Amino acid sequence: MNTPFTAVQITDRVYWVGAIDWAIRDFHGYSTSRGTTYNAYLVLADKITLIDTVKAPFKDELLSRIASVLDPGRIDYIVSNHSEMDHSGCLREVMGIVKPEKVFASQMGVKALSENLHIEGGIEAVKDGSSLSLGNMTLTFLETRMLHWPDSMIALLAEEDLLFSQDGFGMHLASTERFDDQIPKEIWTQEAAKYYANILLPYSPLILKLLERVGELGLSPKIIAPDHGPVFRQSPGEIVGLYGKWAAQKPTNKAVVTYDTMWQSTAVMARAIGDGLAAGGASPRLMPLGSSHRSDVATEILDAGALIVGSPTLNNNMFPTVADVLTYLKGLRPKNLVGAAFGSYGWGGEAPKQIAGVLAEMKIDLVGDPLRVKYVPDAQALSVCRALGTEIAQRLE
Ligand code: FEO
Repeated sequence: MNTPFTAVQITDRVYWVGAIDWAIRDFHGYSTSRGTTYNAYLVLADKITLIDTVKAPFKDELLSRIASVLDPGRIDYIVSNHSEMDHSGCLREVMGIVKPEKVFASQMGVKALSENLHIEGGIEAVKDGSSLSLGNMTLTFLETRMLHWPDSMIALLAEEDLLFSQDGFGMHLASTERFDDQIPKEIWTQEAAKYYANILLPYSPLILKLLERVGELGLSPKIIAPDHGPVFRQSPGEIVGLYGKWAAQKPTNKAVVTYDTMWQSTAVMARAIGDGLAAGGASPRLMPLGSSHRSDVATEILDAGALIVGSPTLNNNMFPTVADVLTYLKGLRPKNLVGAAFGSYGWGGEAPKQIAGVLAEMKIDLVGDPLRVKYVPDAQALSVCRALGTEIAQRLE
């Protein structure tokens, strides 16, 4: 059929029928500088099955891509691996148009689709480890609770050795290229790391357990098809290996120094700390918050060993940008970091102490007391900043 949007063939019997969101730049606080895709897949089994849908405004694009392969009314089953709105936001409307024989979700997915999207009835729960016959093919479901919602599950299509991995192994990257081997490796590794750092990092212990379970089950699918970004047909083992590394959160000698500044005093302290870090053998990344997005700070922390945070004191408080990044990072629960707080002040000087309090709540191992400098730092004060950097570097060896 002649349709405005067309499907992309993934294997003999699986097609990508998702949508490309070239415009999105903010995904609830995460800077999606390269846009994203909402991936859905059509399985041409005896029972024709749609895996996931797309964000509501992209429903027509989904239906058009399906129609480029077959009449959407021929779909027998829909599987909802994840009830977040970027994958289920148009599920109710699609169910109304397609009128599938059955719709499947995890037990928690049935609950979430009811409570969150108000889809009442008509959805069958599948159990962890259970299989669904599609006639000549079989889907096997594995629950992945809290990766990253309670309802999350993944589905293995044994006959194609293909894993529908839902958000897992995904990334926010808009492109017409559908496969990992069509996208420069430095781009997909960078975007996959950003996705992990900003979405999955808090659940790293669960990811390590899942990877262990996958190993015990002997699963190493030839193709991994996530719900965002490219399909892995060349490097499925490589992305799984990266997840193992990121989930382990082994500290390196990289030190992230993030800060804001009022009159450049806290900024020059940051630069002196950075020089001290480098002199001590660490690899500093200075991230001034006037030009660094919180989600990029989170990405840099993914493989760091230290987090050092600075702020001037404004009205007895830390700067709003510093409070923002700390709130965000605290939620992501990074592990195995050392850290420190610093800042210039005029009179009250509360900000570095407040920062140190948050870093302590984050279980970051603090090096020294909060470093405060009154007004513009002189050479002596900057020497103290440099010494702090060197001391932190020594902790990273
Ligand atoms: Fe892509 Fe958790 O949604």
